[in-house]
Amino acid sequence: MESIKLLFETAPFRWLRYLDPQTLLIFLAVVLLLKSVMKARKASCLPLGPPMWSLAWNTFVQNQPPDLALIELSKKHGNILTCYMFWIPIVIISGFQAVQEALVHQGREFAGRPDVRLFEDLTKYQGIIMAPYGRSWKQQRRFTLTVLRNFGMGKIAFEDKIQEEVRYLIEVFKTSNGQPFDPNSKITGAVSNVICSVVLGKRFHYGDKTIAQLKELIAENMRLQTTMWAQIYSMVPIIRHFPGPHQRVFENQAEIEALLQDFIDQHKDTLNGGEIRDFIDAYLLEMEKEQDSPDSCLTEGNLLFNVYDLFLAGTETMTTTLQWGILYMMAYPDVQEKCWKEIDKVIGHSRAPSMEDRPNMPYVNAVVHEIQRFGNIIPLSVSHSTTQDTHFMGYTIKKGTIIIVNLSSVLSEETQWKYPKQFNPENFLNENGEFFKPDAFIPFSMGLRACLGEKLAKMEHFLFFTSLLQSFEFYWPDETSSPDLQGDYKVTLMPQPYKLGLRCRKAPDDEL
Ligand code: HEM
Ligand SMILES: *[C@@H]1O[C@H](CO)[C@@H](O)[C@H](O)[C@H]1NC(C)=O
Repeated sequence: MESIKLLFETAPFRWLRYLDPQTLLIFLAVVLLLKSVMKARKASCLPLGPPMWSLAWNTFVQNQPPDLALIELSKKHGNILTCYMFWIPIVIISGFQAVQEALVHQGREFAGRPDVRLFEDLTKYQGIIMAPYGRSWKQQRRFTLTVLRNFGMGKIAFEDKIQEEVRYLIEVFKTSNGQPFDPNSKITGAVSNVICSVVLGKRFHYGDKTIAQLKELIAENMRLQTTMWAQIYSMVPIIRHFPGPHQRVFENQAEIEALLQDFIDQHKDTLNGGEIRDFIDAYLLEMEKEQDSPDSCLTEGNLLFNVYDLFLAGTETMTTTLQWGILYMMAYPDVQEKCWKEIDKVIGHSRAPSMEDRPNMPYVNAVVHEIQRFGNIIPLSVSHSTTQDTHFMGYTIKKGTIIIVNLSSVLSEETQWKYPKQFNPENFLNENGEFFKPDAFIPFSMGLRACLGEKLAKMEHFLFFTSLLQSFEFYWPDETSSPDLQGDYKVTLMPQPYKLGLRCRKAPDDEL
C-alpha cells in the first residue's frame, strides 16, 4: 500500500487519492475519448512492470492494495520497473546501485524534470526546482551556488545568522513556561528567517503579517496543486479556458509574485554597488554586469523565481527535519542523554555551539545524520525525467519519460546499513565510536539535480539541534500515549502534529 500511496503523492497524480470508483470510471471514459483524439505516446522497450492498467484497476476498481504485485515484480525485475498511470509510463528506480548509476554515471540523461503543464504555465520554465534541464537552469543553479558559497564564508556568514536565529527561537520556546505546546509555527518562523536573512537581507518577527501572508498563499497553492482540477489541467490543458478551482492557483500565484516583486523593487531602490547585502543584491549586480551579453539567462523573472524556490525548498524541509529530531529525542531519551553528555563535555554552557565543534562531536553528528536517514522526509525525491532517449541497464527509456527516484529504498536498504529499520545512531559510528558516513546516505539526492542547499541545510540542522539540546530537555508530555513515529505525507513526510514538553537544562556546574 505504501508504494501506491507514495506514488499518488507525486505530481501529477496526487488528485487520484480523492476519486471514488464511479468518478474514476467517468473520468476514464472522458480521458479515453480525448485520448482517441490525441496521438498516443509510445514508450518502447521500457523495463518491465505491472501491466499497463493494473495499477489504476486494482486500486480503484477492485479497491485492492496492489503493493503485493509491485513487491513481487520488483523482486523479479530488480531495481528498475515501470508503472503506467493511464497512458503515462513512470519508471521507478530504487536501490543505491541503480540510483547512483542513473543520477551520477548517466547524470545528464536523468537530469530533466517532468513536463507538467501546470508548472510550465506557473513558472514559464524559470527558477531552479522545476526548470527543465538546459541553459537557463544551469546558469541559475551555478550562480545561486556561487552566491551561497560566498555567503558561507563572507560577511553575511550563515553561521552568525543561524546562531542569531537560534537564540530567538530559544527565547520563544522559553515563553511556554513549562506548558506543552506544538512547536511547528515557531520552528517554521525561525527556519524561514534563515532563508529571509540570506535572500532578503533581514529577519522578521515570527508573527509578521507579510511573511504570514506569503506562507499562507504558498501553502494554499501547494494544496490546490494536489486537487483533481489542477492535475487534470496538466493532462488536459484545454480546461485552462474554463472557470474552476484551478484558476485560483493563478490568482494566488499572482499575489505571491507581487509580494516577492515588492522585495526585489525595494532592493533595486537601495542598491549600492559596493555592498552586497543578500542574494537579491548579488543577483541584481550580476545582471548589470551581464547586461550586454545577449544570451544571459540572468533576468528579473528568473530572480523572482529563484527567490521563490529558495524559500519553498528551504523552509518546509528544514522545519520537518527539526520536528523529527525533537520527536525522536522524546521517543529515545537515552539518545538524548548521550547528546547532552557530549554537548556538556565539548561545548559546556557558557557559549553557543559552532560548526567548529562538529568534528569533536561524533555522537551528536551521528544523531543528526540518523534523524535525516530515518526521517526520510522526501521519500521519492523530486520527480526527474529523461533528457534524451536513454539506454539504461539494458533498457531503452524514451526522452521525457517521468523518472521517480526512490530515496527511501536507499536510506533503508538492507545491504547498506547496520540497522536499516531502526532509529539508531550506530548507523553512523564505527567500532571506535568515530563518525563515518555510508555512501547510501543520500537524503539530498545525488548528481546534477542534487539539493542545492545541502551545505546550508546541514549547518542549520547541526546548529539548531545542538543549541536546542544545550538549552532544553525534551520530554513526551502525554502519559497515556507514546510518540507516533509514522509520518504523514504533506509536502514532505512530516510527523503528526504533537505537543512538546520542555524543561530548561541547568548546566551541571551552574548555580542558576
Ligand atoms: C533538510 C533539508 C533539505 C533536504 C532533505 C533537501 C532535499 C532535497 C531533494 C531530495 C531535492 C531534489 C533533488 C533531485 O531532484 O534529485 C532538493 C532540491 C533542491 N533543494 Fe533541497 N533539501 C533541503 C534543504 C534545502 C535548503 C535549505 C535549500 C535552500 C537554500 C534547498 C534548495 C533546493 C533547491 C533549489 C533544489 C532544486 C535543485 C535543482 O532542481 O537543480 N534545499 N532538495
Ligand atoms: C520505495 O522504497 C520503499 C522502501 O524500500 C518501499 O517501501 C516503497 O514501496 C518504494 N516506493 C515506490 C513508489 O516504489
